[in-house]
Amino acid sequence: MKGIVFTELLDLIEEKFGQDILEDVLDECKLESGGAYTSVGTYDHKELLEIVTVLSRYTAVPVKDLVRKYGHHLFFRFRKLMPEFFEKPTNAFQFLETVHGTIHVEVKKLYPDAKLPSFETSRESDTELVMTYISSCPFADFAHGLMQGCFDYYNEDIRIEKEDKNNEQQFCRVFTLTKR
Ligand code: HEM
Repeated sequence: MKGIVFTELLDLIEEKFGQDILEDVLDECKLESGGAYTSVGTYDHKELLEIVTVLSRYTAVPVKDLVRKYGHHLFFRFRKLMPEFFEKPTNAFQFLETVHGTIHVEVKKLYPDAKLPSFETSRESDTELVMTYISSCPFADFAHGLMQGCFDYYNEDIRIEKEDKNNEQQFCRVFTLTKR
């Protein structure tokens, strides 16, 4: 997983919980990288899960909620760091429909070693989008948080229903998104 995902997480932990907690969490994790991330480096995604799992113990916030909150936060960071992806879409469904075929394609050009999930989208009606997450990594909650960030960014009231369809080869979650 690309370093930017780690550096942004550590910045957020420091901002929300303080430098002492961040240091304690990193000390407690047995990280192969030693916890010294650079935004262009590449690290095992399990390190991210380890950091969040230890943070969950420190803060009594469930791992799933921390990962979603982080996804929500990262959406707004992407808005700041990569504004070009926000020029065309005018609403949340349009934005989400560009993630797989445009945004992540550009990310892969920028970072050839990025391991990106796959998304299939299907517009069922004006008010319903089905978005299916498929990945070798267990980050469906992260996708969920990014979607919530997207809805808040476009100021739209959208309900998320989800169904897990994991199998031995891959993690898969079907998100049904309905505009209210
Ligand atoms: C401007 C918008 C976006 C940018 C620049 C972006 C970029 C990235 C980058 C750099 C990674 C790390 C790849 C790696 O570590 O190897 C990543 C991973 C990921 N992205 Fe995006 N992304 C964007 C929007 C989204 C949105 C809206 C979603 C969800 C609907 C999403 C879902 C994910 C997930 C779940 C991963 C983790 C990898 C996995 O699950 O396999 N991304 N993205």
